[in-house]
Amino acid sequence: MAKLVRFGVSLESDLLAIFDAHLRSKKYTNRSEAIRDLIREDLIKKQWKEDKEIAGTITIIYDHHRRELVNKLMDIQHDFGKIIISTQHIHLDHHNCLEIIALRGRPGTAQELVDTLQAAKGVKHVTLSMSSTGRDI
Ligand code: NI
Repeated sequence: MAKLVRFGVSLESDLLAIFDAHLRSKKYTNRSEAIRDLIREDLIKKQWKEDKEIAGTITIIYDHHRRELVNKLMDIQHDFGKIIISTQHIHLDHHNCLEIIALRGRPGTAQELVDTLQAAKGVKHVTLSMSSTGRDI
């Protein structure tokens, strides 16, 4: 584990009051944790923009009664097998399925997968959660 370094931060008292209220609503117990999370969040966004190796998840909701769609989604996932590390399928109810796709790879490829899934006719909702591999940040 890297050694901890202390540094001072100057900011307007009004902004600090708003930040502290925000921390309380988010259940933070100290400012350092909150600032660390903000920094990581920003650096992860940068990794996604800079084509660094990233990790993340895609969540999709679809109606499994559309058989051609189930096959199409399977084909897409095989096409992107290089970045897909795991898939979990959950039968939400009689009609709807939820799939969680875990990814590790290039952000451009991840976005291409998201776009391809979104374009598949019958897919109801797709979300992408951008994260990091945890190695650098
Ligand atoms: Ni299902």
